Amino acid sequence: MPAASLRVRDLTKRFSAVDGEVTAVDRVSFDVAGGEFFTMVGASGCGKTTTLRMIAGLEPPTSGTITMGERDFVATPAQQRNIGMVFQSYALFPHLTIFENVAYGLRLRGVPRAELERRVSATLALLKLEPYMQRHPAGLSGGQQQRVSIARALVYEPELLLLDEPLANLDAKLRVQMREELRALQRRLGITAIYVTHDQEEATAVSDRIAVFDRGRLIQQGAPETIYAAPATLYVADFIGRANFLPATLATPGAPQAGVLLAGGLRLSPRRQLALAGEEAGRLARADDAIVMLRPEHLSLAAAAGDVACRVLRVELLGGLVRYRVEAAISPQPILVETTRPLPGMAEGAPAWLSLPADDAIVYHR
Ligand SMILES: Nc1ncnc2c1ncn2[C@@H]1O[C@H](COP(=O)(O)OP(=O)(O)OP(=O)(O)O)[C@@H](O)[C@H]1O
Ligand SMILES: [Mg+2]
Repeated sequence: MPAASLRVRDLTKRFSAVDGEVTAVDRVSFDVAGGEFFTMVGASGCGKTTTLRMIAGLEPPTSGTITMGERDFVATPAQQRNIGMVFQSYALFPHLTIFENVAYGLRLRGVPRAELERRVSATLALLKLEPYMQRHPAGLSGGQQQRVSIARALVYEPELLLLDEPLANLDAKLRVQMREELRALQRRLGITAIYVTHDQEEATAVSDRIAVFDRGRLIQQGAPETIYAAPATLYVADFIGRANFLPATLATPGAPQAGVLLAGGLRLSPRRQLALAGEEAGRLARADDAIVMLRPEHLSLAAAAGDVACRVLRVELLGGLVRYRVEAAISPQPILVETTRPLPGMAEGAPAWLSLPADDAIVYHR
């Protein structure tokens, strides 16, 4: 049976707190296709957990609809939604063995013994936890404990797997390993997954599609590479990947595509037109304050010639990447330049020239 798709429309959640009303989730709409790995990202407090909890049935929406296949989820009690949920805190029972932790929910549901043993064993095998099934949680590493919590969610054979920052408690290396494992498992089972993280690198590494939230609103959704290449707003550009933001003014007022002037007077003239982000064109036509966004890998450094003189402040070797921080009159902040190989002569303190490709720039309203 192909996995059903989830449809969320105009989902809104308002909480009344002592200090007034909070709109935690504001008219959010998205679809998650069967078998898709969909990730919600955004800064702390932007409404990711609240959205997930409404899908799980742990929180009733203030308004809006959630449909799974043909089913109206809002009208379906949580325990009938057939969802597996994994949280940041593993919340394992310390006094139960790993086997019993995974079996717990099935026992509550009165699943017959033979079937229970079959399902728990199969799930433990899937997560490579068989060697530990007689241990208690305290005898497992953080990564193993998180695998148990994933096993516990999967043992129900859910149609939908919801994961709220499941890797947040693990160290950096284990997080990378676990996210790959999780992704492989999700593919193998063909299960629909909705994942929450505020780690943009994690989101772009594992997801089919991501949705970027900002203060309760879903700002942009799409494939990670699409969002990286064309962020709809400055917030998205800043949140997904690294970016340089250069203050600018329009070279010709009212004609933002024609070119911009950077601080110090450098004119950025594209071969065709400057790319303007989403809804920025209208606003830019009325005001001439702009911000130019350029990704670090689009910029280049050379010893002898370029668009603007600069000075190398720092050189960082990051595995397969070299990141230069340079200062130049076009930006009050250091500018990031990334290359795949170290550039000869570009040591810290060295004078250099920076080249800015206008065709890769995206212009936003300030
Ligand atoms: N039960 C509640 N009562 C009042 N306000 C709440 C409640 N739950 C959440 N909020 C508020 O709703 C907003 C969204 O919270 P939510 O937990 O969904 O954010 P989040 O994106 O998951 O953040 P984080 O990355 O920190 O986990 C926040 O401003 C939060 O304070
Ligand atoms: Mg949260």
